[in-house]
Amino acid sequence: MVVPESQDKMYHPPGDLQRDAHVPDFNSYLTLYRKSLENPEAFWKEIADDFFWKKPATGPMLQYNFDVTKGNIYVKCMEGAKTNICYNVLDRHVRERNLGEKVAYYWEGNSPDHHMTITYRQLLSQVCRCANVLKQMGVKKGDRVSIYLPMIPELVYTMLACARIGAVHSIVFAGFSAESLCERIMDAQSSILVTADGVYRGEKLINLKQIADEALEKCREKASSSVTKCLVVKHPALRTKSGAACNKLQTPWDSECDVWWDEVMRDSPEECEPEWLDAEDPLFILYTSGSTGKPKGVLHTVAGYLLYTSLTFKYVFDHHHDDVYWCTADIGWITGHSYITYGPLANGATSVLFEGIPVHPHIGRFWEVIEKYKVTTFYTAPTAIRLLMKYGREPLQKYDLSSLRILGTVGEPINPEAWNWYYEAVGQSRCPVVDTFWQTETGGHVLTPLPAATPLKPGSASFPFFGVEPTILNEHGEELEGEAEGYLVFRRPWPGIMRTVYKNHERFENTYFKKFPGFYVTGDGCRRDKDGYYWITGRIDDMLNVSGHLMSTAEVEAALTEHPAVAEAAVVSRPHKVKGECLYCFVTLKDSREFNRILVEELKRLVREKIGPIATPDFIQNAPALPKTRSGKIMRRILRQIARNEKDLGDLSTLAEPKVVEVLFSQRCEAA
Ligand code: PRX
Repeated sequence: MVVPESQDKMYHPPGDLQRDAHVPDFNSYLTLYRKSLENPEAFWKEIADDFFWKKPATGPMLQYNFDVTKGNIYVKCMEGAKTNICYNVLDRHVRERNLGEKVAYYWEGNSPDHHMTITYRQLLSQVCRCANVLKQMGVKKGDRVSIYLPMIPELVYTMLACARIGAVHSIVFAGFSAESLCERIMDAQSSILVTADGVYRGEKLINLKQIADEALEKCREKASSSVTKCLVVKHPALRTKSGAACNKLQTPWDSECDVWWDEVMRDSPEECEPEWLDAEDPLFILYTSGSTGKPKGVLHTVAGYLLYTSLTFKYVFDHHHDDVYWCTADIGWITGHSYITYGPLANGATSVLFEGIPVHPHIGRFWEVIEKYKVTTFYTAPTAIRLLMKYGREPLQKYDLSSLRILGTVGEPINPEAWNWYYEAVGQSRCPVVDTFWQTETGGHVLTPLPAATPLKPGSASFPFFGVEPTILNEHGEELEGEAEGYLVFRRPWPGIMRTVYKNHERFENTYFKKFPGFYVTGDGCRRDKDGYYWITGRIDDMLNVSGHLMSTAEVEAALTEHPAVAEAAVVSRPHKVKGECLYCFVTLKDSREFNRILVEELKRLVREKIGPIATPDFIQNAPALPKTRSGKIMRRILRQIARNEKDLGDLSTLAEPKVVEVLFSQRCEAA
């Protein structure tokens, strides 16, 4: 790799950003990158020295086997070391770095009338009290705690409280359905569920406790529920200042199981000695869609995740002490775990913790929040950018966005039009856009520009982060040099990579390591251009990416076939102007069932109930029959082309009944 000079249009880092940057130019990036691969021991040791270790490591910084033909897959970081991640992200700042009075979070609620400021000292105190509450409820090291909370400070308190006492948090995005929550509680065998009475999302009031109760009821129906206690936060937006309820929600209550958060927190002590954990002890489980339809419990461990999220945050956002950072994701996804909680706090950063949505109570909300807190670093998803782009530049012009220094995106490929709008309209052509490619599994950014070092090409996640060694393989597993397109894989681990699928190591090995022995397989397609830039081309398995959220075709199909009228279903993606991709479903009905508008609405509702609103199909088409191979396999490629109205279908020789395709074309849905 050399300093890129290209015929393509490139955006070079602004000089004033380079002056104080941690990685000030491309040559510095290259030097550090080479060191990270040639001497990973020294590279990661230096990073680890910034943190507190109760006991030093006895093993190397990284040990691993990535080759299934040579034995079990494993990754270990700093074996023998003892530490606590909560201590490192809170106590260390308060005790050793004099940052107690620094703001950790500006919480901004769904309504602009609700906001609060939380310093590091206050955060530590709340976390310790919550840790004591959990201990009081019988939670011990290694126990799982499911968390089903909106974006309120209590979500951060609870996850860090778990980390403090060595419990494993399993956060479930609060937009998921009762069914999805139940599935995740059962898999994790959690002993405690933490939720809230309700939440406003935009104008809509959601009875979260009722959904949580339905989930627990379902768990009881399926097996005896592992959950013994349900801790319930009173959402501040549903109360008056005196604490009285100010909404029409009926909060279902089971006095055997349910406990109000504020009642138990009130008398809980503010001191809580952290549990000193092994470097490789589990930190959390986070479920991500799997191609079989059953979500995978991605497991991350303490030390490696701390090092990796901390370092990526520092370099990718070129973090400085006086920055105000805002990531608009929800903590229910990995982006929030790594870049709202652990990465920023490990750096002693000040962040905005935002509960709202981009267009409530008005379409300028994001810009208003940037002005209000003088945000310097703004990290969001392409789907949000495309949504806000629709309203043009006028809403932005009402606000002062001059505090911005760095912009970032995550979750899906960003189209050049959205990139340019983000760069010009939001960043006023002076803020680099870091397009960060990564996954729940990778723990942190793996392909990403560094803002002061990397010349940018819109739509490319550019180059690997330190310690990450990507390569591109063809179908036969052969490595492709130079300009190439194929499977994106990684040749070695970095500290923050997942360690296993919870309780299913075999699935971990089969999913990520079987196809190409010796490599971690991302499941994404990728192109490397003549300048060495990586361009993610999208999933090459049966996964769909809707608004940056991954889901599997299998899970949506399973939901659709639960309807008594449906005999068979096949789901593919179709491009969508705002969401990137949306769901296009083909359903074959049972004999004598009629396809009509009521059925379509029922099917949409069913998917929403089974999975959650993010999975609501945009299109449902009647399919008297599905295109199949002679051996009975559904040919999704053809369905994808029908959904996209691509008439040139290529080779159809393996199709059992070619007529089926004509029929489907003639009945395709044009508009949602
Ligand atoms: O397909 C890639 C896409 O999102 C997938 C990972 O999804 P998830 O585990 O939910 O994590 C999302 C947030 C990290 C990837 O396999 N993806 C993520 N970031 C990008 C992306 N695709 C293109 N460009 C990106 N920057």
